[in-house]
Amino acid sequence: MLPTSDYDPDDTVVVLEDVGVRYRVPRGGVRSIKEYLLLAMRGQIRFDDFWALESVSLKVAAGERLGVIGRNGAGKSTMLQVIAGVLRPTTGSVDVLGRIAPLLQLGAGFDPELSGRENVYLNGTLLGMKRAAIKERFDAIIEFAELEEFVDAPLRTYSTGMAARLGFAIATECQPDVLLLDEVLSVGDEAFQAKCVRRLREFTDRGTTLILVTHDAHLVADNAPVRSGFATNASWPTESQATWSAPTTIS
Ligand SMILES: Nc1ncnc2c1ncn2[C@@H]1O[C@H](COP(=O)(O)OP(=O)(O)OP(=O)(O)O)[C@@H](O)[C@H]1O
Ligand SMILES: [Mg+2]
Repeated sequence: MLPTSDYDPDDTVVVLEDVGVRYRVPRGGVRSIKEYLLLAMRGQIRFDDFWALESVSLKVAAGERLGVIGRNGAGKSTMLQVIAGVLRPTTGSVDVLGRIAPLLQLGAGFDPELSGRENVYLNGTLLGMKRAAIKERFDAIIEFAELEEFVDAPLRTYSTGMAARLGFAIATECQPDVLLLDEVLSVGDEAFQAKCVRRLREFTDRGTTLILVTHDAHLVADNAPVRSGFATNASWPTESQATWSAPTTIS
């Protein structure tokens, strides 16, 4: 039996209406920036339009947990970037209420030359935290990430999983209203994943909205169920669950 999110469907925090994202890809391939600039000056660059998302309409309620799965290239990360506000949709509109903490690509919001400690301040600030608030939570962040020994080493010396731990710890300590996670749990080891999942549960119990993109259907099925009321089982994803967002581009 699934844990169900206790949310009021009228209390929406994320609303996408008819969102489309078009990327423009230079046709034929351009070998260097110099060639690109020359062709651009002569007006000789031709682009192909590529719609990564088309007509996506979606409402996510306060406290809801939403799992998003889909093939490589289906447009999941594009959609999360739109919700995070780092990518403006070509068509349609996006509304997000409250403080949003996006954990998109690994390393986004980090400076590899700065230490773990400095990156906590950098990343926390990007997430809208005040310096005093970061200071207050600093020890808890490092403790959760289990990086006490490495806190003063430059981030470039961290493994992928260590950097992901730090990112997750910061994003969850800043107590956002909406947490976006794009594949970040997959690089953590098993013990850390279990710890993250426990934290995510505490989170949604407090009313935080979670949108989780993953290729791990079990992670979604067990821990971040799609729409409350949907039956989830080992054969997940089913057709009905894939309809959460309606777009054919994310299926
Ligand atoms: N900056 C870009 N310029 C051109 N095309 C892009 C760009 N970013 C993404 N795309 C294209 O948009 C589509 C969706 O990409 P996206 O990264 O959103 O997929 P995804 O569902 O997150 O895939 P994955 O499971 O591999 O992470 C892909 O076909 C990709 O090639
Ligand atoms: Mg992606």
